[in-house]
Amino acid sequence: MQARTPDDVVVTPRDLRFSTQQARNQYWLGGDPVGTAVLNALSLTFPDGEKMFMDAVRHFGGQLSGKLAEDVRHFLAQEAAHAREHHALNAIVDPTKYPVEEILTKVRERIALTRSKGPYAILLSTIALEHFTAMMADMHMQNRGLFANADPEIARLWRWHALEETEHKAVAYDVFLEATRHWSAFKRYRLRCLSMAYITFHFTRNIANHASRLLEADGYSAREARKAVRRFLWSDPGLFRRGWRSYIAWYRPGFHPWDLDNRAELADWRAEFDAS
Ligand SMILES: [Fe+2]
Ligand SMILES: [Fe+2]
Repeated sequence: MQARTPDDVVVTPRDLRFSTQQARNQYWLGGDPVGTAVLNALSLTFPDGEKMFMDAVRHFGGQLSGKLAEDVRHFLAQEAAHAREHHALNAIVDPTKYPVEEILTKVRERIALTRSKGPYAILLSTIALEHFTAMMADMHMQNRGLFANADPEIARLWRWHALEETEHKAVAYDVFLEATRHWSAFKRYRLRCLSMAYITFHFTRNIANHASRLLEADGYSAREARKAVRRFLWSDPGLFRRGWRSYIAWYRPGFHPWDLDNRAELADWRAEFDAS
């Protein structure tokens, strides 16, 4: 039996706004230009990326009922708020100093290419990218020191985003299972593995490229920038490397995002954001 999201996982949209503009052009991640560049590069991909995730899920929304239909509504509300807040956050990256337009153009070209392949391709890309965001959210949860010296308001934004990405980590996946229920299990498995391999190559390469371009604007040579970014992503702290176990799990037949049950670890973040 294919696993689904546990019934007691609640997806709660929190329509929060963050005041982040005090950090304009600062190395807001504890004074570290490299980590700041990597997280700014990620943030630059989010507004357009999350709009694609929303469209991916919305396309199949009419076929859904019960808790999944409700989870989808909450997923859409969460992603809309994330896209809005990351769009606002991205204004801290000064376009007269950094190649913001160049990066956004590349992000949009890639998304347009995916969109041109139709609703199933968009959904397959979405579930793979949602697995990446869930892995990074889990990494954030397990390594809270990463944001220890960060601008507090920006740290709060990333914490809120990580919390909600974890809550909804399987919503697009469950929509995929529902939308492809007429496929054979093998076809579903083959295409989600191919999609993950494709996304892994492009997403990790693009984030490294975008972050390197941002660092070059800070005065790094192209070579120094690539080396520093590679180190941050794959070695120390290893933003992409640390989630390797859950990454590999994707390739297991019958995989489901809630096989990694990290509900309990979310409790204090939930308490922080749901207190009011
Ligand atoms: Fe999001
Ligand atoms: Fe998401």
